[in-house]
Amino acid sequence: MKAFQASLPLTLDFEVGAIKRMGEKVEPFGKKVFLMVDPFLQGSDLVAQITGSFSERGIGFVEFYDIVPNPRHTTIDRAVEQVRYSACDVVVAVGGGSAIDSAKAVAFVAVHGGSCWDYTERLGEAVKRPQSRGLPLLVVPTTSGTGTEATPFAVINNPELGLKCAIVNPLIYPDVALIDPQILVSKPPKLTALTAVDTFCHALEAYISIHCTPWVEMVALESIRLFAANARQCVEHGDDLEARARMAFASTLGGMAIASAGVTVAHALGQPLGAMTDAPHGGTVAASTPHVIRWTLPVGTDKFARVAGILDPSTLSLAETERAARLPDILQKLFTTLGVTDTFRSYGLRPEQIEAFAQTVWTSFNQDLACHPKKINSKEEVADIVRMCF
Ligand SMILES: NC(=O)c1ccc[n+]([C@@H]2O[C@H](COP(=O)([O-])OP(=O)(O)OC[C@H]3O[C@@H](n4cnc5c(N)ncnc54)[C@H](O)[C@@H]3O)[C@@H](O)[C@H]2O)c1
Ligand SMILES: [Fe+2]
Repeated sequence: MKAFQASLPLTLDFEVGAIKRMGEKVEPFGKKVFLMVDPFLQGSDLVAQITGSFSERGIGFVEFYDIVPNPRHTTIDRAVEQVRYSACDVVVAVGGGSAIDSAKAVAFVAVHGGSCWDYTERLGEAVKRPQSRGLPLLVVPTTSGTGTEATPFAVINNPELGLKCAIVNPLIYPDVALIDPQILVSKPPKLTALTAVDTFCHALEAYISIHCTPWVEMVALESIRLFAANARQCVEHGDDLEARARMAFASTLGGMAIASAGVTVAHALGQPLGAMTDAPHGGTVAASTPHVIRWTLPVGTDKFARVAGILDPSTLSLAETERAARLPDILQKLFTTLGVTDTFRSYGLRPEQIEAFAQTVWTSFNQDLACHPKKINSKEEVADIVRMCF
């Protein structure tokens, strides 16, 4: 068996109603909270419950709602200034991946200084990689998609440079993730579908990654099984608490899988598309995944066949090669059923931008390309795959 290391340096608190105990959870970490809340929750009972639980325990708080999808480096830097100015000693985030990634960066940069952009990984550029943790951080995901609560990544968008890059550092894991399926029942169907597809892509990409280990394989395959059994139910019957809980677990597992094995080509293409067009993250990876699989085969046949068998058990009677070859079509049909149908073109990438886009992928997402099981040798090859995604 392949040797491996696995570490999950945070507490996962997975329970319906967990959010009600936020004050109790925060108490050991600090006295004044910088509360970063996804703007869709502004003025909600949920926020009132959280802040009420702080007040009951004499914990101070400053609220911050200035968070957009594909979070901006400038907004994160502004939040850092506020944390320092108001002398907050703990960060709490409630929201989607954008809110949680922002908070991961804020907690880190508030201690180590400078701009968050300087901490992102960019090929050939100087990158700040501190050796100690930031402020304590507690997070509550409101989407089941990114799994960011269980990853050492924070993805940041720099619209001035047209780049989206990630802080990659094991010291930015949250201290605690409260995963409360009750929060998820009101998530709209389209967002539910987009984020569920992101989860699937994490699990698939970690599973096929050259860094996949027996640990990652176990975690990723369970995530894919949970996605297969629950994604559609969550989209069509959002109030099914059990399906929501299982999809939330799939998302966390997807995060754990990429934390160990990284993502591969579909994310390397999806992330910069999100940066250029502000397209939703899940939609961007859905738009590339089936094409990336077609391009990758026959490399990875055994793994793609296994995933095809989970998603469509009727293919289990087929030979492995044929089953693997069916996976792109199975996925395109499934994504269509979920209502996730956009392409690179429909998200706004223009043919004349492909070369520059491929250069960005090559420079900013080289680490992800390097995880792919089929080697990519040049940015021209990246451009060929992008053309397939049109
Ligand atoms: N750090 C990681 O490991 C990691 C992994 C994958 C993706 N990401 C990043 O995460 C971001 C995407 O996060 P996301 O897919 O969770 O979406 P998001 O956080 O960008 O949110 C999308 C929209 O949905 C709204 N929203 C969030 N939860 C909601 C709910 N329950 N009900 C109604 N509206 C809600 C938000 O306000 C926002 O307008 C991207 O920037 C992506 O690059 C990070
Ligand atoms: Fe993702």
